[in-house]
Amino acid sequence: MGLFEVLLTPRPARLSGEMTNPACEFWRPMAGPLVHAHRGGAGLAPENTMAAFRNSVALGAHCIELDVRLCASGELVVVHDEDLRRVAGLEARVAELPMAELKSLDVGSHFSAEFAGESIPCLVEVLEELGQETLFNIEVKEESLLGDGTSARLGPLLSSMGLEQRCLVSSFNPGALLRVARDCSAVLALLYPTEGAGRLKDRLSARPWLARALPVVAINPHYESVSPKLVSCAHRRGLGVNAWTVNQAAVMAEQLHMGVDGLITDRPDLALELLL
Ligand code: G3P
Ligand code: MG
Repeated sequence: MGLFEVLLTPRPARLSGEMTNPACEFWRPMAGPLVHAHRGGAGLAPENTMAAFRNSVALGAHCIELDVRLCASGELVVVHDEDLRRVAGLEARVAELPMAELKSLDVGSHFSAEFAGESIPCLVEVLEELGQETLFNIEVKEESLLGDGTSARLGPLLSSMGLEQRCLVSSFNPGALLRVARDCSAVLALLYPTEGAGRLKDRLSARPWLARALPVVAINPHYESVSPKLVSCAHRRGLGVNAWTVNQAAVMAEQLHMGVDGLITDRPDLALELLL
């Protein structure tokens, strides 16, 4: 048994996320694995846009995975990278621009001309439109362990919108998860980075014992780290396993065979087909 498995051996239920978190029923109400449309289904439409979210909801994806960051005017915006170069061709950081300016950017054309004019959504508008239609895996992109305001705003927002039971909050940053747990009852998942990540936050969250120390209901490892042993050890202690980012049907099938609870994928269409 490897270190990962040893450290994921069962612990007393009173210490586990599912016992301490009243929203935990959200996490396993359905029979079978969930399909999380990664960045809204980034293989089918421009990532983290309303077009992508609407498309994946229409396809029947169980859950929308999206990334949130804080912008200069204080709103939580849905965007993956720290800067806007890749999606909007702009040399600027998300944290430096106010919502109005972010809204004016075209983040659809980099995917295809068909999506020209798609804009960066703020989290509130996504949740207002689709909060009752689907579940969400909200990934907090917060670099600092001590927080930059992103996680501190997310908990109260989910709580005030009454959507805690429909949201899984995930992060590579354990500090972000603790801050969200302080403010709302959404269920939490700890993301595990791929090997070789250099920053302190990433090195810390790569350590398996962290999942034991946090009130999480799931671990979200890179799919190459998933093994049958890892899945069974996680399950024995009541943790779900959501693998990212799984885009090929054959790999999806392998992951499902190993017993994962969630496929986080750019191609929700392929994953849904497999689960039919
Ligand atoms: O939720 C898993 C996945 O989104 C983590 O990677 O970089 O696509 O946010 P990234
Ligand atoms: Mg993400």
